[in-house]
Amino acid sequence: MTVRLGTPLSDTAVRVMLLGAGELGKEVAIELQRLGAEVIAVDRYPNAPAMQVAHRSHVIPMTDPHVLNGVILAEAPHLIVPEIEAIATEVLAEIEAAGLATVIPTARATQLTMNREGIRRLAAEELGLPTSPYAFAGSAQELMEAAYRIGLPVFVKPVMSSSGKGQSMIDALEDAGNAWQYAQSGGRVETTRVIVEGRIDFDFEITLLTVRSMRDGAVVTDFCDPIGHRQVKGDYVESWQPQAMSAAALKSAQDIAGKVTEALGGLGVFGVELFVKGDQVWFSEVSPRPHDTGLVTLATQTQSEFALHARAILGLPIDVTRRDVGASAVIYGGMDAVGVAYEGIADALSVVTADLRLFGKPEAFERRRMGVATARGETTDQARERAREAASRVRVVV
Ligand SMILES: Nc1ncnc2c1ncn2[C@@H]1O[C@H](COP(=O)(O)OP(=O)(O)OP(=O)(O)O)[C@@H](O)[C@H]1O
Ligand SMILES: [Mg+2]
Repeated sequence: MTVRLGTPLSDTAVRVMLLGAGELGKEVAIELQRLGAEVIAVDRYPNAPAMQVAHRSHVIPMTDPHVLNGVILAEAPHLIVPEIEAIATEVLAEIEAAGLATVIPTARATQLTMNREGIRRLAAEELGLPTSPYAFAGSAQELMEAAYRIGLPVFVKPVMSSSGKGQSMIDALEDAGNAWQYAQSGGRVETTRVIVEGRIDFDFEITLLTVRSMRDGAVVTDFCDPIGHRQVKGDYVESWQPQAMSAAALKSAQDIAGKVTEALGGLGVFGVELFVKGDQVWFSEVSPRPHDTGLVTLATQTQSEFALHARAILGLPIDVTRRDVGASAVIYGGMDAVGVAYEGIADALSVVTADLRLFGKPEAFERRRMGVATARGETTDQARERAREAASRVRVVV
């Protein structure tokens, strides 16, 4: 099987449609552009980051199956690359089944991972991977019973949600009602089921970027060095690579990531989220696409997670080599405003080894990720300090 790339905007073009045009999609689009792919960015609002570097774009409600189907048929992409979970994935399944396009990594993977119930049952019940104790609940009463059975404290998460939306931790049964209400407000659909998870008392958590790519005509799996990260309210605020861990824990982590990505199938980067305590590792969840904490690879790897994704999905060989120790720190909007400006950039870039990505999002929100600072160092502690310092020097102004 040979890979052929073409000329964008011509009959030979390899057309790639990004569903979701945020900052992660923007970096994937740039990597695809470098290989001469024709990039079509789709999102629900105009001037999204990846739209600004794509050949063209469409603004549609991606959860509307009819509209989504129409755009896909009109553009006839060779590859469809979801960047977010909130997509009418049943359309992707039909497109894939009809042989009209390849869905990355697979339509089934996008369906399983958009719902916490799908991926959790696959990981824990079919693959037998270690996870937190869990139960699903469809009412406040069921939530309370589940919390009682599992033992407090528990995490409560809408099954259809991401970035910590609607998520809470409760350590008293009388808070079950509030947690249920809060989950309803944060879920992607009107009445949502929740997953109730016992808390894992981990030493640290990692993202293990796992890449499925073609080598010598066969699919192979490679693992990037583990990425450590710190989460606040379900959103990552800083990440670093490599995260030091025992050889036994690394082996378990790779074993878990290998199994779950093999079950999902297809080609591309997966962000496997794992909790680690000593030599023990638990599976938490997986993104069938580059992961936000993996922004650090822009500073550390010869091929960032975005380059890896672009190459892998095109059927090209990849290289997960890390050449540096590094870290990333998130730059937030800090306010709600349209068309913000950034100051302190020169100061930020004066931090040794620092680099910046400003995503160009048209509208800032208090807790919206508007950019990221990266830095390298002798140690992850040094790199983290530099990245945090650089991020803190950037001021968002109106
Ligand atoms: N069972 C658990 N035990 C301990 N900590 C947990 C548990 N579940 C979640 N957390 C903490 O909350 C964070 C967010 O959880 P999770 O990844 O499930 O949510 P999310 O909304 O999918 O977040 P994101 O979309 O940013 O990955 C985790 O990274 C971890 O720090
Ligand atoms: Mg997560």
